[in-house]
Amino acid sequence: MPSICFFILVILVCSLRAALGADPYVFYDWTVSYITASPLGVKQKVIGINGEFPGPILNVTTNWNVVINVKNDLDEPLLLTWDGIQHRKNSWQDGVSGTNCPIHAGWNWTYEFQVKDQIGSFFYFPSLNFQRAAGGYGGITINNRNVIPLPFAVPDADITLFITDWYTKSHKELRKNVESGTNLGIPDGVLINGVGPFRFDDTIVPDGFPFLTINVEPGKTYRFRVHNVGISTSLNFRIQNHNLLLVETEGSYTVQQNYANMDIHVGQSFSFLVTMDQNASSDYYVVASPRFVNSSWARATGVAILHYTNSQGPASGPLPDPPNDYDTYFSMNQARSIRWNVSAGAARPNPQGSFKYGDITVTDEYVILNRPAELINGKWRTTLNGISYLTPSTPLKLAQQFNISGVYKLDFPNKLMNRPAKLDTSLINGTFKGFMEIIFQNNDTTVQNYHMDGYAFFVVGMDFGVWTENSRGTYNKWDGVARCSTQVYPGAWTAILVSLDSAGIWNLRAENLDSWYLGQELYVSVVNPESDGSEGALPDNTIYCGLLSPLQKDQAQRVKFSGAPSISGSSTTILVLLIMAFGAFIG
Ligand SMILES: *[C@@H]1O[C@H](CO)[C@@H](O)[C@H](O)[C@H]1NC(C)=O
Ligand SMILES: *[C@@H]1O[C@H](CO)[C@@H](O)[C@H](O)[C@H]1NC(C)=O
Ligand SMILES: *[C@@H]1O[C@H](CO)[C@@H](O)[C@H](O)[C@H]1NC(C)=O
Ligand SMILES: *[C@@H]1O[C@H](CO)[C@@H](O)[C@H](O)[C@H]1NC(C)=O
Ligand SMILES: *[C@@H]1O[C@H](CO)[C@@H](O)[C@H](O)[C@H]1NC(C)=O
Ligand SMILES: *[C@@H]1O[C@H](CO)[C@@H](O)[C@H](O)[C@H]1NC(C)=O
Ligand SMILES: *[C@@H]1O[C@H](CO)[C@@H](O)[C@H](O)[C@H]1NC(C)=O
Ligand SMILES: *[C@@H]1O[C@H](CO)[C@@H](O)[C@H](O)[C@H]1NC(C)=O
Repeated sequence: MPSICFFILVILVCSLRAALGADPYVFYDWTVSYITASPLGVKQKVIGINGEFPGPILNVTTNWNVVINVKNDLDEPLLLTWDGIQHRKNSWQDGVSGTNCPIHAGWNWTYEFQVKDQIGSFFYFPSLNFQRAAGGYGGITINNRNVIPLPFAVPDADITLFITDWYTKSHKELRKNVESGTNLGIPDGVLINGVGPFRFDDTIVPDGFPFLTINVEPGKTYRFRVHNVGISTSLNFRIQNHNLLLVETEGSYTVQQNYANMDIHVGQSFSFLVTMDQNASSDYYVVASPRFVNSSWARATGVAILHYTNSQGPASGPLPDPPNDYDTYFSMNQARSIRWNVSAGAARPNPQGSFKYGDITVTDEYVILNRPAELINGKWRTTLNGISYLTPSTPLKLAQQFNISGVYKLDFPNKLMNRPAKLDTSLINGTFKGFMEIIFQNNDTTVQNYHMDGYAFFVVGMDFGVWTENSRGTYNKWDGVARCSTQVYPGAWTAILVSLDSAGIWNLRAENLDSWYLGQELYVSVVNPESDGSEGALPDNTIYCGLLSPLQKDQAQRVKFSGAPSISGSSTTILVLLIMAFGAFIG
């Protein structure tokens, strides 16, 4: 009898939780392994998730809890990172080398995070060892809760596209090239959703490549979520004869504007509404082509096909024109035209612009200058303010937790110092609840895209030349868009503002894999001096390494996985229904 009472009590608690609208949990089991694919006609090992390349889309809603048990079936260490997920006050789930020990080959590790107060389009990818060049990426779509309307008519469906430069060399060969100072060279192709181009030109594309066909219905409006998950190439995205109505980027609704094409830099995500408003006399091209390059890059052109159900025939003729490749002003002006819709609600009903960032006093100021790869102690390295990030064997976050000194220093300089470039583990000491201004100054010859984990920041300005104090006069203090990455053009600067309200140790890096791999990375430590316990605690399943290796127990080598996601909310509902039926029976 007591056990039945307990059982009923559990059911009551469960149904109460459901009645109060507790945030649902979704569970996934993912196996990350090599699979064989031939996107450009050459057989290669790519990184798949549960056998899929690209990986599955995490399709969740604001405030859901996500639990993903990741099994590493690769032959090297693995960490998955969730680009743009804010992990409020919990950098333990961030999946970068500074926060987590890697999941060893053959091991598994369970991530658990909440997509708290977020909406929008993001992606995940393997963060170590250049692995993203082999795949392992997929989308993260955070839907709005029903109680908060979209700032546009509900689209008929979502179409998610991953555009990426691609090489037939493996990620291991590519990273060796990068280490030895060899330029990556012209990509072998540009993939859209893991497949090569439609044969738009017989002299450029050999026969027999698989390509992507996007099936659409006339008159309908689709939300295209487009992610550049590539290695180092900025891509221009466009759809023949169709307008791209920009509505969202990396978690913020934008002022809705039409574009004929959009430059999407490595690591960036955009949502466009596209209405199928053309006659269906033929299919249409969907193009992703490299920016700021010369004609020898022609083979690196991604082409998919937009196919109306009533289409009269295949797409033919030339691809739609890209913008002028030597006109970086066009690209910068386009970037500056992307603004925040301050009156739209997003994850919460209040307007996005209710946080008046332009009125807040800056507490921390950094001018961060990058340099192209150079030899430091005989090794090719890239730097930020003259420092090339040296990855310690003990993750920073674990060193902090266990009071191990000497792993890192909180001395990242707020400008380039007059001293030789060096390798170091130097962090920004961020002020908890402070407001930080960062100016990225790009001294390289290619566009770099900088990303910060755990936060959205306001992109308030960008211009060519060298940033000075006077440049602040040009800042957008009203509707700069809040996002998690921003491009910096060569010979130009970009300024961001970020509110340091989330304790943790947060990664700041170039998304361009070659720059990142050679050291363009740092961390921002944000410590709550009151350490009130609001920062996520050390997870029970923490993997230990480096100086903390003695704490690590062996992990059973093989783990059984089912692969299918499940939602605990629905099982709770079933239990509640059962108990109601039981109640009706005994009544
Ligand atoms: C994603 O989830 C939303 C809401 O739960 C659902 O309406 C939509 O159909 C799903 N999209 C995909 C592509 O599965
Ligand atoms: C590994 O997977 C097993 C089986 O699903 C699970 O019980 C265990 O908690 C996982 N280990 C970690 C460290 O997450
Ligand atoms: C259909 O649209 C194309 C492109 O806009 C145009 O060239 C063609 O003349 C149109 N055909 C018909 C039958 O309207
Ligand atoms: C075109 O670009 C490639 C690499 O980006 C470079 O190696 C080549 O010299 C360029 N060709 C011309 C004609 O400028
Ligand atoms: C901004 O969002 C509101 C919804 O809150 C919408 O009605 C309006 O059209 C949007 N404005 C622009 C310029 O996109
Ligand atoms: C680390 O130091 C803090 C304060 O200095 C202390 O509260 C905490 O217990 C220490 N942690 C460990 C694991 O020793
Ligand atoms: C880091 O900043 C905090 C204040 O935000 C300060 O108390 C602390 O001394 C600083 N640490 C170092 C090593 O500079
Ligand atoms: C890089 O900096 C040097 C001076 O240190 C300057 O001469 C050069 O023009 C800069 N290049 C770019 C692309 O900013």
